[in-house]
Formats: sequence, structure tokens, C-alpha cells
Amino acid sequence: MWKSSLGHPISINRNRIVRLERIHIETPSIKSFSFHDSLCATAKPGQFIMVWVIGTDEVPMSLSTIQPNGYSEITVAKVGEATAALHQKQVGDFIGVRGPYGNGFTPSEGKLLLVGGGTGIAVLWPLAATLARQDVSMTFVLGAKTRDELLFLDRVQSLSSKHNYTIAVTTEDGSLGSKGVATDKVENLLERSHFDMIYTCGPESMMRRVFQLAELYNIPLQASLERIMKCGLGICGSCCVGKYRVCKDGPVFSSKQLKEILDEFGLFKRDFSGKKISY
Ligand SMILES: Cc1cc2nc3c(=O)[nH]c(=O)nc-3n(C[C@H](O)[C@H](O)[C@H](O)COP(=O)(O)OP(=O)(O)OC[C@H]3O[C@@H](n4cnc5c(N)ncnc54)[C@H](O)[C@@H]3O)c2cc1C
Ligand code: FES
Repeated sequence: MWKSSLGHPISINRNRIVRLERIHIETPSIKSFSFHDSLCATAKPGQFIMVWVIGTDEVPMSLSTIQPNGYSEITVAKVGEATAALHQKQVGDFIGVRGPYGNGFTPSEGKLLLVGGGTGIAVLWPLAATLARQDVSMTFVLGAKTRDELLFLDRVQSLSSKHNYTIAVTTEDGSLGSKGVATDKVENLLERSHFDMIYTCGPESMMRRVFQLAELYNIPLQASLERIMKCGLGICGSCCVGKYRVCKDGPVFSSKQLKEILDEFGLFKRDFSGKKISY
């Protein structure tokens, strides 16, 4: 297979035009878009693709479903120009995709804690679906601002009832589950039981707190980070965090790597011009 100088097979970097086959409204601000693509079928949980919203922009999106038959999905919160244009799309419309990129999560064994906030839950979903094929125990902490904005509760509930996993839900307004933030629940859980690995994705301030708790209780952690991305494959430097490029070295970082970027992780990100701004 031909490889580019960046180590990716060239075919991965080519934009493939795919037809949207299903659009599902998940919450008032989040929709899932499904399509077929054979290269996305080879993705590891936690990997992302660059999505070309033709005529508007190209943006990074994690795969929220990865199936061996090529059926793939992204789950998108409407926050700005490209995501708003994507939310306007209808079944039968086309988008461009390239990738999958990044390292993805490393599966582990034993007693696992998955902590997702907002669209971070969609990023963790392919991992949960993969881990469920092995003999592991999973506890999910799912956090959202309100009941209406809680993502994928039905999917997580159906997986959990099949395998007897535990789910804890938190909403900031108390409209579902415990009132408060996901990290309060994580703290309670860690006081009572030991876990072999924590996986997290969500707002970076949430992940910083989960990291601090994981350190306190001596539990390894994997966190999926987001940064502004332009090339998605390690050239432009727009996604730098400390010595790492999120697109190529991440988006999933271990506790050991997060310790090296503690002066940025959860505190600062960079805007489109590269200027450091606080969260
Ligand atoms: C590896 C990776 C995976 C991602 N996966 C998902 C996903 O599964 N679902 C999802 O909804 N979003 C995901 N995102 C975030 C998504 O890429 C941004 O929301 C999107 O690029 C915004 O584009 P826009 O043109 O709509 O917004 P813009 O008009 O570009 O910006 C609107 C606002 O969003 C902020 N923003 C833009 N890009 C990012 C970014 N990369 N990270 C954080 N804030 C950003 C801007 O600073 C601004 O405040 C992911 C980002 C990365 C880096
Ligand atoms: S997005 Fe260009 S180096 Fe990461």
C-alpha cells in the first residue's frame, strides 16, 4: 500500500464523498449522521475523521459508530458555521470524509470506569461497544446540563442491562439522575471502589478533575482531548498542546502524558490564530 511521508496510507488522506443515509435527532442541539465508508470500518474506538461540509468548512469529528460492514456514524453538536451547515443536511445529501486519524483508546481489562460529558459520551460509545465483547465490568458516569441534552442514554442502558453494568447519571439542573456535575459522582465512586482504568471524554475542565481524582486513587486514565484542527494529520501545528499534536499524538492521552502538559490541560486552549486562551 502506498504510504505518505506522514505514515498514513495515501488512501486515508483522500477525501471520499459519502451519502448520508440516516440523520437522527439526539437532543435539541445534537444530531447523528450515518453513512457507509470502508476505511471508517477499520477505525479504532476514539479515532476521528475530518468531515468536509462541502462549501463551508472541514472539521474534526469522532466516529460514534464503527461497524465492520462500513456503516459509520458521527454525532455532532451544533456550535458554529460548519456544524450548523451539517445540521441543515438531509438524507441523500453528500459530505466528504478523510481519515480515520489519531491513536484511539487502548482497551483494558477488569473493572472499568467510563466518564462522559456532553458529546464526549458519543466519543466513548464505540469503546464501550468494543469492550462489551470482552469479559469486563463497566461503570458509566454520564453527565449533561439538562435531561434533554443527555446523549445516548438509551444505547448505554440497553448495553448495561444486557451485561449488568452500572450507570450513574448527573444533570446540572437535577432534571435527571443526581443534581450536580459528573465529577461529584466520580469522586463518590472512587471513595467506595477500585477501578483498573478510567476512560474519559468531555469538557476539558471536567477531564482535568477526573485526572486529579484518578491520580489521588492511583488509577490509570485515558482522556480524549479536543483542539482546533486544520490538517488533521500532523502538519500545521494548530492542534498543539505542550509538546504534543492532538491529531497525531492523540486525541487520546494517558495519565503519564497529561502530567507533561498540566500547565495547559483543562486550563488553556488555542484559538484559530494560535493565541492561547483560557477555558
Ligand atoms: C479530535 C476531535 C474530535 C471531535 N469530535 C466531535 C464529536 O464527536 N462531536 C462534536 O460535536 N464535536 C466534535 N469535535 C469538535 C468539533 O470539531 C467542533 O465543534 C467543530 O469543529 C466546530 O466547527 P464549527 O465550524 O461549527 O464551529 P466554529 O464556527 O469553527 O466555532 C464555534 C465555536 O466552537 C469552538 N471550536 C471550534 N473547533 C473546536 C474544537 N476542535 N474543539 C473545541 N472547540 C472548538 C470555537 O472556538 C468557537 O467557540 C471534535 C474535535 C476534535 C478535535
Ligand atoms: S491539525 Fe494540523 S498538526 Fe494537528
